[in-house]
Parts: sequence; structure tokens; C-alpha cells
Amino acid sequence: MSLHDLLALGRDHYLPVYRQRELVLERGQGARVWDSEGREYIDFAAGIAVCGLGHNDPDLVAALVGQAGKLWHTSNIFHSEPPLRLAQELVEASRFAERVFLCNSGAEANEAAIKLVRKWATAQGREPARRVIVTFRGSFHGRTLAAVTATAQPKYQEGCEPLPGGFRYVDFNDEAALEDAMAGGDVAAVMLEPVQGEGGVVPAAPGFLQAVRALCDRHGALLVLDEIQSGMGRTGRLFAHWHDGVVPDVVTLAKALGGGFPIGAMLVGPKASGAMGFGDHGTTFGGNPLAAAVARVALRKLSSPAIAANVARQESALRAGLDAIGKESGVFAGVRGRGLMLGALLAPAHAGRAGVILDLAAAEGLLLLQAGPDVLRFVPALNIGDAEVAEGLARLRRAVAAASAGQSGP
Ligand SMILES: Cc1ncc(COP(=O)(O)O)c(C=O)c1O
Repeated sequence: MSLHDLLALGRDHYLPVYRQRELVLERGQGARVWDSEGREYIDFAAGIAVCGLGHNDPDLVAALVGQAGKLWHTSNIFHSEPPLRLAQELVEASRFAERVFLCNSGAEANEAAIKLVRKWATAQGREPARRVIVTFRGSFHGRTLAAVTATAQPKYQEGCEPLPGGFRYVDFNDEAALEDAMAGGDVAAVMLEPVQGEGGVVPAAPGFLQAVRALCDRHGALLVLDEIQSGMGRTGRLFAHWHDGVVPDVVTLAKALGGGFPIGAMLVGPKASGAMGFGDHGTTFGGNPLAAAVARVALRKLSSPAIAANVARQESALRAGLDAIGKESGVFAGVRGRGLMLGALLAPAHAGRAGVILDLAAAEGLLLLQAGPDVLRFVPALNIGDAEVAEGLARLRRAVAAASAGQSGP
């Protein structure tokens, strides 16, 4: 089928909630992908921070194919070995969790966390008005109704009202505002991303997570960390909060956990691991043997010192390249983020043009993401090589030059 006809299928049949670029990806290898016309791209998007080991990783493929020949699905009415082993391995790797709930996506992991918080508070005899969950402006926690209510960005919520109650929003990195928001003693949990992703690639300020932990302890609230985007090695440590030396009560994971195969997880520490019992929550597909078999291998590989070393190496290369492009073009106002989760903030003269630059990058053979209209987001595979980073930067340089010329033209 021609590219034109394929694109028409999407235009005619998809619910139009996405605005895909006008290309159809067909195969991938490492940090490179090819489209249906045979064009090659450097992939700095990795399926929105999902393909942590790149495309077509032989060990992930072997795990998937091996399991596919044995058993695809059991439901949670029966056990199978891959999710049992994955749960144990996640508990051990996390250094804090006692128990794991396996699901299928990030929103579903956060939904589980929200319910767990409410159940935990209920078990303590707190009436509904004292089960408030505090989240932060600029956050992104997913698209289900409770997760989108936790997401303190009006653009994701508008028109979905009435929203579930019991959420309160505070400015990110504002310790005093959080203290005020918790002063009434009605907060059951504080939920946040160690590095805000969709909200513009904004890391928690130094000391902020520790301050949040202290406030949670003082007010008897749980600390829930959404590491769906920042976890699984992306920041250079397996868990993003390891940089900050805090111990959370709940961590949610998805995205890179399955290396591209859908899976999510909620990890729960000792304070709240007894909050849910038989019948309190569930999912048909969660802990699916195919997903769990792949995730076990992804977890092992993403935990390796080699990945951490490569993240540090390529972070330096990307930052140096982005700084150079920013200097010569004047298009970037700065670069922020952690590890291989970096954002280039557009200079005021180019504000709102991230989408334009993404189109120009795709035309140059580079797959890139934005994080809002003013930030280019870089979340490549964590095992990306020197050559792909250099080539991706060269293509970005051409795209940015074109954007700059387009802006200053007639
Ligand atoms: C931090 C964070 N939480 C939750 C989600 C939602 O995950 P999913 O799209 O798998 O539901 C995302 C997705 O971008 C995310 O970045």
C-alpha cells in the first residue's frame, strides 16, 4: 500500500486524538528506524522514552519469542512464572518495595496508586475530605479520569468535568507552597515526577524531594513517585529518586519497563503494602506472561553499569551538541534535564515553534519529541551509540538552521 493510502487510513478511521507526522515507520534497529519509503531516521524519541534498549534488541526479542511459544495469557485467576519472577526482581531492584501490582500502562499504574492512597487513608479512619492527594503544576500522570485529574495542567482536563474530587495543586519546586497546602492535616499523599516530562523536562530542584519526604512524614502522608518516564535507568540510575537519597512509599513504572511491550507496575513500600486486599483492585491483562517475560530482561539489562555509564557519556555528548547548536543559532534559551531525559528550551523569539522544528527534524531524518510548545525533548535509547548521537545532532543542526531561516524570512 502506498504511503498516501496508508495515511488516508489513519485520517479516515482513527479517532483524531493524535497528530502523527506524515510518515509510516516500518522497522527499527538500535537507535535507527526506517519508514515505509525506505528512509532512515535517527531516533531521539524512542517511542516516548519507552524503547530504552532501542529497537529489535536481540535479548528482548528472544524473551518475547520464547514466551510466545509457551503461554500468552492466563489472567490473574491463575499464576504463571514470568510475572512471579518479575515481581520478586522489581522488589529486590527497588531497595524499598515490599509488594508489586502489575498492570498495562502508566495511567493504570497511577490509577492504582491513587486508589491505594485512598484505601490506605480509609483504613486509618480518615473521612473522605481528609484523603486529599497533592500534585504539582506542570505534572503529567496519564489520561484516565483520576490520572488526568492528578495531572495539574488544565489543557488535559478541559471538557472532562466533572473531575474526581480530592486533588490539590501546588507549584513544582515550591516547598513553602507545599507546606501551606499540607498545613490543614487533610493530605493523604503527595505525588510527583522526579523529573517532570510532558510538562517541559523540569527536574526537581536539589533538595526538593527530601523536603517533600520530610513534609509527608510530618503530616502522615504517603510519598508517591511517578517514575513512568524518568525511571528504568533514564536519568543514569535505575530509579530517578536514587539521585536524591529519599525513600518513597509508592513508585509507579511503565514505559521502558517493557522495552516497548506494554506493561506498568506499582511498587509499594512497607507503610502501604497492606492497604489493599483481596478484591480491592485488579486487571485482566496485568502481569501478562509475554509482557513480564520481556520486562524481566529489560530490567536486568537496564540495571547494568554499562547502561549507566552510557547514559552519562551520551548525556555529555548531547548537552555539548545542544549547547553548540543553541549558541550558533540562537534558537535555544538553555538545556535542562537529567541523564538521557533532556529538554532544549526555545528562546523567546522561537516560543511556540517546537512542532515546526519537529517537522523539520523529521524531514532531515531525525525523530524528536516536544514537551509542550516551547521545549524540544530528547529521550533516546539508553544504549544509543556515539555515531547515532553525533549523526542525530548533525541532523538537528540542519533542522534548527532551517527553522531559524524560516523565522527570519519574509
Ligand atoms: C510521568 C508520566 N506518568 C504517566 C504517564 C502515562 O503513561 P501511559 O501513557 O502509559 O498511560 C506518562 C506518559 O507520558 C508519563 O510521562
